[in-house]
Amino acid sequence: MNLKILLLPGDGIGTEVTAAAVEVLKAVGKKFGHTLELSEGLLGGIAIHKTGTPFPKETEELCQKADATLMGAVGLPEFDAAPPSQRPEAGLLGMRRVLDVFANLRPVRTWPALVDSSPLKNHVVEGTDMIIVRELTGGLYYGQPRGMDENHGFNTMSYTRKEVERVTHTAFKLARNRRKRVTSVDKSNVLEVSQFWRKIVIEVAKNYPEIQLEHMLVDNAAMQMVLNPRQFDVMLTENTFGDILSDVGGILAGSIGMLPSASLGEKKGLYEPVHGSAPDIAGQNKANPLGAIGSVAAMLEYTFGLMKEANAVNDAIGKVLESGKVTADLRPKGKPATTTEVGQAVSAAL
Ligand code: IPM
Ligand code: MN
Repeated sequence: MNLKILLLPGDGIGTEVTAAAVEVLKAVGKKFGHTLELSEGLLGGIAIHKTGTPFPKETEELCQKADATLMGAVGLPEFDAAPPSQRPEAGLLGMRRVLDVFANLRPVRTWPALVDSSPLKNHVVEGTDMIIVRELTGGLYYGQPRGMDENHGFNTMSYTRKEVERVTHTAFKLARNRRKRVTSVDKSNVLEVSQFWRKIVIEVAKNYPEIQLEHMLVDNAAMQMVLNPRQFDVMLTENTFGDILSDVGGILAGSIGMLPSASLGEKKGLYEPVHGSAPDIAGQNKANPLGAIGSVAAMLEYTFGLMKEANAVNDAIGKVLESGKVTADLRPKGKPATTTEVGQAVSAAL
Protein backbone atom coordinates (compact mmCIF):
# COMPACT_ATOMS: atom_id res chain seq x y z
CA MET A 1 0.00 0.00 0.00
CA ASN A 2 1.14 3.57 -0.65
CA LEU A 3 0.80 5.76 2.44
CA LYS A 4 0.54 9.48 1.70
CA ILE A 5 1.34 11.25 4.92
CA LEU A 6 1.82 14.91 5.76
CA LEU A 7 4.18 15.71 8.63
CA LEU A 8 3.64 18.89 10.64
CA PRO A 9 6.35 18.77 13.33
CA GLY A 10 5.35 22.23 14.64
CA ASP A 11 7.07 23.73 17.67
CA GLY A 12 9.26 22.75 20.62
CA ILE A 13 9.56 19.02 21.16
CA GLY A 14 7.19 18.50 18.23
CA THR A 15 10.17 18.30 15.86
CA GLU A 16 11.97 15.69 17.95
CA VAL A 17 9.03 13.38 18.62
CA THR A 18 7.92 13.58 14.99
CA ALA A 19 11.39 12.54 13.81
CA ALA A 20 11.26 9.49 16.09
CA ALA A 21 7.75 8.63 14.87
CA VAL A 22 8.89 8.87 11.24
CA GLU A 23 11.71 6.45 12.03
CA VAL A 24 9.08 3.97 13.22
CA LEU A 25 6.87 4.59 10.17
CA LYS A 26 9.81 3.79 7.93
CA ALA A 27 10.47 0.58 9.84
CA VAL A 28 6.81 -0.41 9.40
CA GLY A 29 7.03 0.31 5.66
CA LYS A 30 10.10 -1.84 5.35
CA LYS A 31 8.80 -4.74 7.40
CA PHE A 32 5.32 -4.91 5.88
CA GLY A 33 6.15 -3.79 2.32
CA HIS A 34 4.39 -0.40 2.21
CA THR A 35 5.73 2.65 0.42
CA LEU A 36 5.73 6.01 2.15
CA GLU A 37 5.02 9.26 0.39
CA LEU A 38 5.94 11.83 3.03
CA SER A 39 5.51 15.58 2.74
CA GLU A 40 6.23 18.23 5.34
CA GLY A 41 4.54 21.53 6.16
CA LEU A 42 4.46 24.44 8.60
CA LEU A 43 2.07 24.78 11.51
CA GLY A 44 2.04 26.82 14.72
CA GLY A 45 4.73 29.21 15.92
CA ILE A 46 7.25 28.20 13.27
CA ALA A 47 4.60 28.96 10.61
CA ILE A 48 3.97 32.40 12.14
CA HIS A 49 7.69 33.13 12.05
CA LYS A 50 8.12 31.98 8.44
CA THR A 51 4.82 33.05 6.84
CA GLY A 52 3.05 35.37 9.28
CA THR A 53 0.18 32.97 9.98
CA PRO A 54 -0.12 29.80 12.14
CA PHE A 55 -2.00 27.75 9.50
CA PRO A 56 -0.80 28.85 6.05
CA LYS A 57 -2.84 28.14 2.92
CA GLU A 58 -0.03 25.86 1.64
CA THR A 59 -0.36 23.71 4.75
CA GLU A 60 -4.10 23.45 4.22
CA GLU A 61 -3.52 22.30 0.64
CA LEU A 62 -0.95 19.75 1.78
CA CYS A 63 -3.46 18.38 4.33
CA GLN A 64 -6.08 17.97 1.63
CA LYS A 65 -3.64 16.10 -0.64
CA ALA A 66 -2.44 13.67 2.04
CA ASP A 67 -4.37 10.63 3.31
CA ALA A 68 -3.40 11.46 6.88
CA THR A 69 -1.54 14.15 8.82
CA LEU A 70 0.84 13.61 11.72
CA MET A 71 1.26 16.67 13.94
CA GLY A 72 3.99 17.09 16.58
CA ALA A 73 3.04 19.96 18.91
CA VAL A 74 2.28 23.68 18.73
CA GLY A 75 3.03 26.55 21.10
CA LEU A 76 5.93 28.88 21.82
CA PRO A 77 6.46 31.05 24.92
CA GLU A 78 7.14 34.20 22.88
CA PHE A 79 3.44 34.24 21.92
CA ASP A 80 2.18 34.04 25.51
CA ALA A 81 0.80 37.57 25.44
CA ALA A 82 -0.70 37.35 21.93
CA PRO A 83 -4.47 37.23 21.43
CA PRO A 84 -5.86 33.71 20.75
CA SER A 85 -6.28 34.28 17.01
CA GLN A 86 -2.58 35.13 16.61
CA ARG A 87 -1.13 32.33 18.67
CA PRO A 88 0.44 29.08 17.40
CA GLU A 89 -2.50 27.15 18.89
CA ALA A 90 -4.85 28.91 16.45
CA GLY A 91 -3.11 26.97 13.67
CA LEU A 92 -4.05 23.63 15.18
CA LEU A 93 -7.59 24.76 15.91
CA GLY A 94 -7.96 26.05 12.34
CA MET A 95 -6.70 22.78 10.93
CA ARG A 96 -9.07 20.67 13.06
CA ARG A 97 -11.95 22.79 11.86
CA VAL A 98 -10.97 22.76 8.17
CA LEU A 99 -10.48 18.99 8.20
CA ASP A 100 -13.73 18.69 10.19
CA VAL A 101 -12.18 16.11 12.52
CA PHE A 102 -14.92 16.27 15.11
CA ALA A 103 -14.04 13.17 17.14
CA ASN A 104 -10.75 13.06 19.02
CA LEU A 105 -9.95 9.60 20.34
CA ARG A 106 -7.57 9.59 23.28
CA PRO A 107 -6.87 6.11 24.59
CA VAL A 108 -5.57 6.01 28.16
CA ARG A 109 -4.06 2.76 29.33
CA THR A 110 -1.66 1.76 32.06
CA TRP A 111 1.05 -0.39 30.53
CA PRO A 112 2.09 -3.14 32.99
CA ALA A 113 5.71 -1.93 32.82
CA LEU A 114 4.66 1.57 33.84
CA VAL A 115 2.60 1.05 37.00
CA ASP A 116 5.53 2.37 39.01
CA SER A 117 5.86 5.46 36.79
CA SER A 118 2.49 6.84 37.85
CA PRO A 119 2.49 8.93 41.02
CA LEU A 120 -0.74 7.12 41.95
CA LYS A 121 -0.72 3.84 43.88
CA ASN A 122 -0.25 0.72 41.73
CA HIS A 123 -3.53 -0.87 42.78
CA VAL A 124 -5.38 2.23 41.58
CA VAL A 125 -3.85 2.55 38.10
CA GLU A 126 -3.27 -1.14 37.26
CA GLY A 127 -5.44 -2.39 34.42
CA THR A 128 -6.73 1.03 33.35
CA ASP A 129 -7.97 0.81 29.77
CA MET A 130 -10.24 3.63 28.75
CA ILE A 131 -10.69 5.88 25.77
CA ILE A 132 -11.74 9.50 25.91
CA VAL A 133 -13.84 10.59 22.96
CA ARG A 134 -13.44 14.34 22.97
CA GLU A 135 -15.67 16.46 20.71
CA LEU A 136 -13.08 18.52 18.82
CA THR A 137 -14.65 21.11 16.54
CA GLY A 138 -17.31 22.75 18.70
CA GLY A 139 -17.98 24.04 22.21
CA LEU A 140 -16.06 26.82 23.95
CA TYR A 141 -13.12 26.63 21.57
CA TYR A 142 -15.17 27.83 18.61
CA GLY A 143 -18.39 29.28 20.07
CA GLN A 144 -19.56 32.77 19.12
CA PRO A 145 -19.72 35.40 20.46
CA ARG A 146 -16.25 35.57 21.94
CA GLY A 147 -13.97 38.41 22.82
CA MET A 148 -12.47 40.69 25.40
CA ASP A 149 -12.05 44.37 26.09
CA GLU A 150 -10.91 46.45 29.05
CA ASN A 151 -13.79 45.37 31.31
CA HIS A 152 -15.16 42.13 29.92
CA GLY A 153 -14.00 38.77 28.62
CA PHE A 154 -16.38 36.14 27.24
CA ASN A 155 -16.69 32.87 25.34
CA THR A 156 -19.67 30.75 24.40
CA MET A 157 -20.16 27.05 24.91
CA SER A 158 -22.64 26.04 22.27
CA TYR A 159 -23.54 22.79 20.53
CA THR A 160 -25.92 21.93 17.72
CA ARG A 161 -27.90 18.70 17.57
CA LYS A 162 -25.84 17.48 14.64
CA GLU A 163 -22.55 18.13 16.45
CA VAL A 164 -23.60 16.12 19.49
CA GLU A 165 -25.18 13.35 17.44
CA ARG A 166 -22.18 12.60 15.27
CA VAL A 167 -19.61 12.39 18.05
CA THR A 168 -22.03 10.32 20.15
CA HIS A 169 -22.33 7.81 17.30
CA THR A 170 -18.52 7.59 17.19
CA ALA A 171 -18.37 6.84 20.92
CA PHE A 172 -21.09 4.18 20.82
CA LYS A 173 -19.59 2.46 17.79
CA LEU A 174 -16.24 2.28 19.58
CA ALA A 175 -17.89 0.86 22.70
CA ARG A 176 -19.34 -2.00 20.64
CA ASN A 177 -15.85 -3.44 20.12
CA ARG A 178 -14.82 -2.79 23.71
CA ARG A 179 -16.48 -3.39 27.09
CA LYS A 180 -19.78 -1.86 25.91
CA ARG A 181 -19.98 1.02 28.37
CA VAL A 182 -20.21 4.73 27.59
CA THR A 183 -19.88 7.41 30.27
CA SER A 184 -21.06 10.78 29.00
CA VAL A 185 -19.50 13.64 30.93
CA ASP A 186 -21.21 17.02 31.27
CA LYS A 187 -22.10 19.80 33.71
CA SER A 188 -25.86 19.52 33.38
CA ASN A 189 -26.49 20.64 36.97
CA VAL A 190 -25.42 24.15 35.89
CA LEU A 191 -25.27 24.53 32.10
CA GLU A 192 -28.08 24.45 29.53
CA VAL A 193 -25.59 23.37 26.88
CA SER A 194 -24.88 20.29 29.02
CA GLN A 195 -28.56 19.54 29.52
CA PHE A 196 -28.91 19.65 25.76
CA TRP A 197 -25.84 17.43 25.35
CA ARG A 198 -27.29 14.86 27.75
CA LYS A 199 -30.68 14.86 26.04
CA ILE A 200 -29.18 14.20 22.59
CA VAL A 201 -26.84 11.50 23.94
CA ILE A 202 -29.84 9.70 25.45
CA GLU A 203 -31.65 9.88 22.11
CA VAL A 204 -28.70 8.52 20.12
CA ALA A 205 -28.13 5.77 22.70
CA LYS A 206 -31.50 4.23 21.73
CA ASN A 207 -29.79 2.99 18.55
CA TYR A 208 -27.35 0.95 20.64
CA PRO A 209 -29.40 -1.13 23.10
CA GLU A 210 -26.42 -3.41 23.81
CA ILE A 211 -24.36 -0.49 25.19
CA GLN A 212 -24.73 0.63 28.78
CA LEU A 213 -24.92 4.43 29.09
CA GLU A 214 -24.09 6.36 32.22
CA HIS A 215 -23.87 10.13 32.85
CA MET A 216 -21.34 11.82 35.09
CA LEU A 217 -20.75 15.44 36.07
CA VAL A 218 -17.35 16.66 34.99
CA ASP A 219 -16.06 17.58 38.45
CA ASN A 220 -16.90 14.10 39.71
CA ALA A 221 -15.41 12.55 36.54
CA ALA A 222 -12.06 14.22 37.27
CA MET A 223 -12.12 12.74 40.75
CA GLN A 224 -13.30 9.29 39.63
CA MET A 225 -10.47 9.10 37.09
CA VAL A 226 -7.87 9.17 39.85
CA LEU A 227 -10.00 7.27 42.39
CA ASN A 228 -11.13 4.31 40.31
CA PRO A 229 -10.08 4.61 36.65
CA ARG A 230 -10.92 0.97 35.83
CA GLN A 231 -14.63 1.81 35.97
CA PHE A 232 -14.33 3.63 32.63
CA ASP A 233 -14.49 2.16 29.15
CA VAL A 234 -15.50 4.89 26.69
CA MET A 235 -15.76 8.41 28.09
CA LEU A 236 -17.65 10.81 25.82
CA THR A 237 -17.38 14.54 26.43
CA GLU A 238 -17.32 18.00 24.92
CA ASN A 239 -14.22 19.82 23.75
CA THR A 240 -13.00 21.71 26.84
CA PHE A 241 -13.90 19.02 29.38
CA GLY A 242 -12.10 16.47 27.17
CA ASP A 243 -9.01 18.65 26.98
CA ILE A 244 -8.82 18.86 30.76
CA LEU A 245 -9.70 15.24 31.52
CA SER A 246 -7.18 13.88 29.04
CA ASP A 247 -4.34 15.53 30.95
CA VAL A 248 -5.57 13.64 34.02
CA GLY A 249 -5.25 10.57 31.81
CA GLY A 250 -1.54 11.35 31.54
CA ILE A 251 -1.20 10.61 35.26
CA LEU A 252 -2.81 7.20 34.76
CA ALA A 253 -0.57 6.37 31.81
CA GLY A 254 2.61 7.29 33.71
CA SER A 255 3.26 10.49 31.76
CA ILE A 256 1.36 12.73 29.38
CA GLY A 257 4.15 11.91 26.93
CA MET A 258 2.63 8.43 26.57
CA LEU A 259 -0.72 9.54 25.20
CA PRO A 260 -1.50 9.28 21.48
CA SER A 261 -4.59 10.63 19.76
CA ALA A 262 -6.56 10.28 16.55
CA SER A 263 -8.78 13.10 15.32
CA LEU A 264 -11.34 11.70 12.93
CA GLY A 265 -14.09 13.06 10.70
CA GLU A 266 -15.92 11.80 7.62
CA LYS A 267 -12.83 12.07 5.42
CA LYS A 268 -9.42 12.96 6.76
CA GLY A 269 -7.53 11.79 9.82
CA LEU A 270 -5.25 13.95 11.91
CA TYR A 271 -2.94 12.29 14.42
CA GLU A 272 -1.56 14.25 17.33
CA PRO A 273 0.09 13.28 20.60
CA VAL A 274 -1.81 14.76 23.56
CA HIS A 275 1.21 16.55 25.06
CA GLY A 276 2.24 20.11 24.24
CA SER A 277 5.43 21.64 22.86
CA ALA A 278 7.22 21.56 26.27
CA PRO A 279 9.54 24.54 25.65
CA ASP A 280 11.41 23.76 28.90
CA ILE A 281 12.94 20.59 27.43
CA ALA A 282 12.80 21.41 23.69
CA GLY A 283 15.92 20.76 21.64
CA GLN A 284 17.47 18.50 24.29
CA ASN A 285 16.52 15.09 22.85
CA LYS A 286 14.77 14.29 26.16
CA ALA A 287 11.10 14.22 25.18
CA ASN A 288 9.09 11.02 25.25
CA PRO A 289 8.25 10.08 21.63
CA LEU A 290 5.83 7.28 22.53
CA GLY A 291 2.74 9.51 22.30
CA ALA A 292 3.75 10.40 18.75
CA ILE A 293 4.65 6.79 17.95
CA GLY A 294 1.32 5.62 19.38
CA SER A 295 -0.33 8.19 17.11
CA VAL A 296 1.37 6.48 14.16
CA ALA A 297 -0.19 3.20 15.30
CA ALA A 298 -3.57 4.95 15.44
CA MET A 299 -3.02 6.27 11.90
CA LEU A 300 -2.23 2.80 10.59
CA GLU A 301 -5.43 1.54 12.20
CA TYR A 302 -7.95 4.28 11.49
CA THR A 303 -6.85 5.85 8.19
CA PHE A 304 -5.24 2.88 6.49
CA GLY A 305 -7.08 -0.04 8.12
CA LEU A 306 -3.72 -1.76 8.69
CA MET A 307 -4.57 -3.57 11.93
CA LYS A 308 -1.63 -5.98 11.86
CA GLU A 309 0.81 -3.10 11.44
CA ALA A 310 -0.88 -1.03 14.16
CA ASN A 311 -0.73 -3.94 16.59
CA ALA A 312 2.93 -4.51 15.73
CA VAL A 313 3.76 -0.90 16.64
CA ASN A 314 1.85 -1.11 19.92
CA ASP A 315 3.52 -4.43 20.76
CA ALA A 316 6.91 -2.87 20.02
CA ILE A 317 6.07 0.02 22.39
CA GLY A 318 5.22 -2.55 25.07
CA LYS A 319 8.54 -4.34 24.54
CA VAL A 320 10.55 -1.13 24.81
CA LEU A 321 8.72 -0.23 28.02
CA GLU A 322 9.53 -3.69 29.42
CA SER A 323 13.20 -3.20 28.50
CA GLY A 324 13.33 -0.05 30.65
CA LYS A 325 14.76 2.04 27.83
CA VAL A 326 12.52 5.05 28.48
CA THR A 327 12.81 8.82 28.74
CA ALA A 328 13.14 10.79 31.98
CA ASP A 329 9.41 11.60 32.32
CA LEU A 330 8.78 7.89 33.07
CA ARG A 331 11.25 7.98 35.95
CA PRO A 332 13.41 5.00 34.89
CA LYS A 333 15.59 3.31 37.49
CA GLY A 334 18.75 3.68 35.37
CA LYS A 335 19.95 6.44 33.07
CA PRO A 336 17.08 7.90 31.01
CA ALA A 337 17.10 7.17 27.28
CA THR A 338 16.99 9.94 24.66
CA THR A 339 14.12 10.61 22.26
CA THR A 340 16.20 9.21 19.41
CA GLU A 341 17.13 6.07 21.35
CA VAL A 342 13.51 5.30 22.17
CA GLY A 343 12.54 5.76 18.50
CA GLN A 344 15.32 3.42 17.43
CA ALA A 345 14.41 0.89 20.10
CA VAL A 346 10.78 0.77 18.92
CA SER A 347 11.91 0.35 15.30
CA ALA A 348 14.30 -2.43 16.33
CA ALA A 349 11.58 -4.17 18.36
CA LEU A 350 9.39 -4.22 15.25
C1 IPM B 1 -4.55 19.38 23.20
C2 IPM B 1 -3.89 20.72 23.34
C3 IPM B 1 -4.57 21.72 22.41
C4 IPM B 1 -6.03 21.81 22.81
C5 IPM B 1 -3.91 23.11 22.38
C6 IPM B 1 -2.46 23.02 21.97
C7 IPM B 1 -4.64 24.05 21.48
O1 IPM B 1 -3.90 21.14 24.66
O2 IPM B 1 -4.61 18.86 22.07
O3 IPM B 1 -5.00 18.83 24.21
O4 IPM B 1 -6.37 22.54 23.75
O5 IPM B 1 -6.85 21.16 22.16
MN1 MN C 1 -4.65 19.65 26.06
